[in-house]
Amino acid sequence: MERKEVFISYAHEDKERVEEIVTCLEKQGVSCWIAPRDVGARRYAKAICEAIEDAKIFLLMLSSHSAVSEHVLNEIEMAYNKRKNSQGNLTIETICLDKIDLDSPSFDEIMYYIRRINFIQLENDPTPEYFANQFIDANKSILRIISNTKQAREDFQSEYVSDEYEYSRLKKQNDLLKQFDLALYQKELIRRTKPVILDVGSGDGSLIVDRVDSTINEYEIIALDCESQNIEHGKEKFKDKNIHFEQVDLSEDNLSEKLEAILKKYNIDKFDIINLSMIMLHITNKVNVLRALRRVLKNDGTIIIKDIDDGINFAYPDEGGKFQKAWELLSLDVTAGLRESGRRIYPILHRAGFKNISLENVYLTTIGMAYDEKEIFFEMYFKMILDGMRYSLSKYPTNWELKEAKEFMETNIHDLYEEFMKEDFVFALGFMLYRANK
Ligand SMILES: C[S@@+](CC[C@H](N)C(=O)[O-])C[C@H]1O[C@@H](n2cnc3c(N)ncnc32)[C@H](O)[C@@H]1O
Repeated sequence: MERKEVFISYAHEDKERVEEIVTCLEKQGVSCWIAPRDVGARRYAKAICEAIEDAKIFLLMLSSHSAVSEHVLNEIEMAYNKRKNSQGNLTIETICLDKIDLDSPSFDEIMYYIRRINFIQLENDPTPEYFANQFIDANKSILRIISNTKQAREDFQSEYVSDEYEYSRLKKQNDLLKQFDLALYQKELIRRTKPVILDVGSGDGSLIVDRVDSTINEYEIIALDCESQNIEHGKEKFKDKNIHFEQVDLSEDNLSEKLEAILKKYNIDKFDIINLSMIMLHITNKVNVLRALRRVLKNDGTIIIKDIDDGINFAYPDEGGKFQKAWELLSLDVTAGLRESGRRIYPILHRAGFKNISLENVYLTTIGMAYDEKEIFFEMYFKMILDGMRYSLSKYPTNWELKEAKEFMETNIHDLYEEFMKEDFVFALGFMLYRANK
């Protein structure tokens, strides 16, 4: 499901003007969530909560109408609380649609939430383009402006790409990550007799089969993925293993029913272990997904989540900041998912009702790595950034940011490699490994 970057909060009296501004924003590649257009078949309140949850920017269209609208006040309260509780980064922005007297009593309530926020102020005779440009200028660093065509915006988040190259990249990543996560899998697997495992976003199943099969002999795995290609690949690759693949898209509303049907189909009571490896960064409705998964976890079951957070990476020495610049480019990569996903897992697990949440490991680092492991590490991450820029640019050839990013990576990849391989250089990649109980 497409994640929209900007949530538009407005009063219905201002609908026409607001829609004009949204059209201008979208023409410039900014993805906006606006009701009722984007509510779809979901319940209204649920759709609003999810859209605020997913957004990077909450854009309040302030007017004498919206200042007293109950809907708008509810929405801004939700956004304000999300920001306060640090459940993700949310910027609150305000566009003043009218010349308004902020000291008037009718603005009292809304001012409580927005008093410390910069307003995009009204000029004489402002056009929708004026508002849109001011907003984009002020928020360039947050927005992923992909292209100035509407079609490109709609294709945006076409998401994860599975092909032979990606299978091989994941294999290298998973081999390298053994030192990071294998001990936890072993601890959870060894204490159970013939555990039943649910692997969510399993790809072709290589990760889960490797961790389980290298630890115990008797097990049953149900692997879920949205892509039929992964499922066919996995079925063929692991036809001798006790793993069953099911095609499930986590963004669908009826996930709970689908999971119940799977339990019935395989005559399973509930799962001993549920595993999510590098999938949370790709999905939007995270709390709901985890709630649905919690229902099918045994009372003494364990959920394991591994995810990425590039925001906590460090490279040292990084003279000129080229390493940092390289990983920050990932936010432009249309296949790379939400790159600061790792830090969000704890609050999301908590909200989904999980107990005994612990962070078992943070960072895969070059410290202590053999030379050839370091080479694989470099290829798996920095080469992936270059490939991501090339792929994204091939999809959005007019995007100047991607052009610059690709050039930067092509120019610097060799120097980065040389630096990376030096004995006294350290790189720490923000993988995060959580476990929790039902
Ligand atoms: C980075 S791969 C991780 C694969 C495997 N878990 C691993 O760690 O090697 C992400 C996987 O999530 C799947 N995926 C992405 N969005 C999904 C969704 N909405 N529902 C189900 N699977 C999804 C992709 O098809 C892909 O196989």
